Amino acid sequence: MGKITRIVSASLLAATTGTLGFNWSKWITPLVEPEYVLSDSVQRVQLTPGEDGLRERVVSWVSGADRSGDSLRLFCGDSLLFQSGPFHKEIRTHGGVTHVQRVTIPSLAAGLYPYTITSGEGVEAYRDTLVIPSDTLQTFVLIGDVQDTWGDDTRPVMDSLYRAHPDAAAWIQVGDLIERPHDQYWRRYYDAFASVAPRIPLITVIGDHENEAGLMYDVDDRWEYVFDYPDNGPEERVGHAYYIDYPDMRVVCYDSNSLFWSIGTQRPWLERVLRERRDHPFLVVCAHHPVYSGTKNRFNPLNNTLLGPLFRRCGVDLVLAGHDHIFVHDRDPDGGGPHYIGLSTAHKTYSVQEPERHVASESGARYYGIMTVTPETLRVAVCREGGTLLDSLSVSRKGLR
Ligand SMILES: [Fe+2]
Ligand SMILES: [Fe+2]
Repeated sequence: MGKITRIVSASLLAATTGTLGFNWSKWITPLVEPEYVLSDSVQRVQLTPGEDGLRERVVSWVSGADRSGDSLRLFCGDSLLFQSGPFHKEIRTHGGVTHVQRVTIPSLAAGLYPYTITSGEGVEAYRDTLVIPSDTLQTFVLIGDVQDTWGDDTRPVMDSLYRAHPDAAAWIQVGDLIERPHDQYWRRYYDAFASVAPRIPLITVIGDHENEAGLMYDVDDRWEYVFDYPDNGPEERVGHAYYIDYPDMRVVCYDSNSLFWSIGTQRPWLERVLRERRDHPFLVVCAHHPVYSGTKNRFNPLNNTLLGPLFRRCGVDLVLAGHDHIFVHDRDPDGGGPHYIGLSTAHKTYSVQEPERHVASESGARYYGIMTVTPETLRVAVCREGGTLLDSLSVSRKGLR
């Protein structure tokens, strides 16, 4: 594609996603991934939820060699409950080779389940325990942009959140999980999330940093094959947009990076999956780019004009986003509509524009949220790193308001 075409298209894309004050070199020229070599051992074990977010799990692991001969064994106490070999995918990037192995576990009842990954020779290579929470109360840890780079010291933050909520139903992260789609930054992610990734599933969305730099938003294969989300998304965005159901909540995730090209498929899909559960107790929507931006020179016109009103019409309770590297809580201009929460858990911070316009806001630190969901109430508490409570909200079950 010619350079002029790329620049014109990138300008349209920037207008669409609202990032006007960006670094052109990061958008136009992909940064070359340094060479890397992974060891042959089982590493980077990661859980994701199935469509039944309470009971279904997918376990993935990574290695430098083909480990498709491995076997995942799941136990209930000392009894073997389930055993399966993995799906396998070899991913070649500019920097090297990553082998992804993945097993989908059948529906489980509440409890703790030890599991092992065993080599084809019968040698146990990994052992951990996953948790299935109760069906009457679920806790979700909410994380904003991370983009960990060397020296960010993110792991203690994640370790303390895991220790405080060891039986969380899921962690929900709103994109820009990694700084760039390079192995060195994936390594930073797995190092930072080492305590939680093998035990509690991650719900995440695609941020601009999960894509190769350039105008077409080419999502990193390592994101696509490790995070194996349900195939219930819209045409051409299956796996990138999806929903997860809990007993009292539907979580709908869409790809806000590619709206310029995919609004025609993502918007009707969003309307369908939100409307079919409109009478369900709680609806939560997640995307990387916010409906209301709280930082200078950023706006997201498609999110704001086409999707914000849809979320209100469909009775969405909470919209989670990131990208702006601040904490912000917004409502629609008349004070109604969903609660819009923007979070950042990154070292990099921007400043809040016009703080008086927001229900609550802050910048200059890392933030997280704790969401609890019962049949009657959805509650969110937003805290600054260290645990200082900044904001809270509570939404009652539909029909009880
Ligand atoms: Fe970001
Ligand atoms: Fe971003």
